[in-house]
Amino acid sequence: MKKLSPLLKEPVQPKAATDGIERPIGLIDSITENPDPLVDLASRHIVSARQFDCAKLMQLCRLAAVYETTPALVQAPLRGKILISAFYEPSTRTRLSFESAWHRLGGDIMSITDPASTGIAKGESLQDVAEMFNNYGDMVVIRDSNEHAIYDMLEASRIPIINAGNGTDEHPTQALADMYAIFKWRPELMTDKVPAARRVRVGIVGVPARMRTVRSLLLLMALFPQAFEEVVIISDNDDLFSEGQRKELEGAGLKIRESTSLDSALPDLDVVYINSIAWVGDTYEELGANLQLSTGSPLKPGSIILHPLARGAELSTDLDDTEHNWYFAQARGAVFIRMALLTSITQRIHQVMDTPENP
Ligand code: CP
Repeated sequence: MKKLSPLLKEPVQPKAATDGIERPIGLIDSITENPDPLVDLASRHIVSARQFDCAKLMQLCRLAAVYETTPALVQAPLRGKILISAFYEPSTRTRLSFESAWHRLGGDIMSITDPASTGIAKGESLQDVAEMFNNYGDMVVIRDSNEHAIYDMLEASRIPIINAGNGTDEHPTQALADMYAIFKWRPELMTDKVPAARRVRVGIVGVPARMRTVRSLLLLMALFPQAFEEVVIISDNDDLFSEGQRKELEGAGLKIRESTSLDSALPDLDVVYINSIAWVGDTYEELGANLQLSTGSPLKPGSIILHPLARGAELSTDLDDTEHNWYFAQARGAVFIRMALLTSITQRIHQVMDTPENP
């Protein structure tokens, strides 16, 4: 087989960092630090985006921005703590960013990436697995294609469990990463009174009824209805919303419109959130793979694209080197927002916020 290394004539440099990384400072400056909303998260399970409110989200984003800008301040607050990382469905970003976050906070990890390597393959119940987890670790992060699995485990769990994606239901920490990206881009969107001219129009290319990332994101966006001029759901599918979903979001103040045409919606969109995958059982469905973005799309100048990734044909790689690429910054920020969440759940908030800057 031909060796590829002789083809590399120049020393190989890592690629430069992606856009969006310089922004956390603006977010820090726009929020007054307050540990109290995060103290509320101590020892809590995190199952749904419904568990967050504006104050918690803002303080999580602020702490994430501190972690992102000043990693030297991290004093290993989770030293001696063990995370059980149980992913019974494929994952690149969620598992690795949770594990990176826990490691960066000084903790240790036990990782399960295949349920067939555990007693589940012998018919062991999830309740019994949860009972064992109580003895072996201090927190569990779990992904399961069965949306009920996490709820079955909660009954037996005496340590916090975090939902890292349960079937088509929710992916609350992905939504935290999405909001962190949006607020880094425009910190003023967190304020009570966003001037009309600064409100943003968000397009969501996807199916809220069936995509857990979209379901959780919309719940968090509904905490900040003053920030969003309109939310345009763009899809060529029928039955976009699950029962009561649209009513709940509109009841919270989001203005929602449906569209079947991506190109006609794009010129007015400030944020385009695109995804075409929904996990169903042991495999995935592609929903809306015909709705595609590339440098040839009529994107509004200055608009940003978010994508939970993994991407398919819906998001062309030719956008990677454009101003619209905020999806890599979104994925990078997921480490820091998860560090903020883990710090809160493990009751290390005062330890972390007790810095020379905040004596
Ligand atoms: N965003 C997300 O959930 O990606 P993974 O499936 O790679 O974890």
